[in-house]
Amino acid sequence: MNDNEFDYGPLTGLIGVWKGDKGIDIAPEPDGTENNPYYETITYTAIGDVENAEEQLLTCLHYTQVVQRKSNDKVFHHQTGYWMWDAAAKIVMHSLQIPRAVSVLAGGKCTWAVHHEGEAILDVSASADHDTWKIIESPFMAQKASTRSFSQKVVVGEHEMSYGQTTLVDIYGRKQFVHTDENTLTRS
Ligand code: HEM
Repeated sequence: MNDNEFDYGPLTGLIGVWKGDKGIDIAPEPDGTENNPYYETITYTAIGDVENAEEQLLTCLHYTQVVQRKSNDKVFHHQTGYWMWDAAAKIVMHSLQIPRAVSVLAGGKCTWAVHHEGEAILDVSASADHDTWKIIESPFMAQKASTRSFSQKVVVGEHEMSYGQTTLVDIYGRKQFVHTDENTLTRS
């Protein structure tokens, strides 16, 4: 696969290395909520296209996201996955893995105005109960810290990219803790 030959559609603007230090994480704690200001680097690499069943053509980016706490500079979240664009169906897909033994395949629509306004908006979601866009997790996580849903909106501009995401987690005997993350990044 040679990345230059391909049309990544609304994902095109993501390709590259992004850094941002305005991150806010709200995460579950046994006795309430943890609030973590953070900074991060997200690297999106164009990896070409994939043909499925000689029918579906996807163009794909691979990414890694490394997130550090402002208070102590430690990496406290690491994530990797793919963004995929199905131009024929106009569907954008985001598969992600986190090293808690949780994987997500989120899908959805994109509002794409790159040629007009220099912006693409990617809106994806998944839920434990959805037929298609789903979450899988280890037996431990299913029992103790189960991810029930994930939704994410990414706004990609020419020089700035921002995202907001909400992950609902059943944990510490409570249903649907609202675990949120948001940041604004610039291309480095
Ligand atoms: C920037 C992104 C993210 C950051 C900074 C972040 C950070 C955190 C933090 C600090 C905790 C609490 C850990 C602890 O107290 O031991 C946590 C818990 C958790 N996160 Fe995230 N998270 C992010 C994204 C995600 C995503 C995308 C998912 C899944 C789709 C996820 C699933 C979970 C789960 C299931 C827990 C409960 C485990 C536990 O607290 O022991 N997180 N996260």
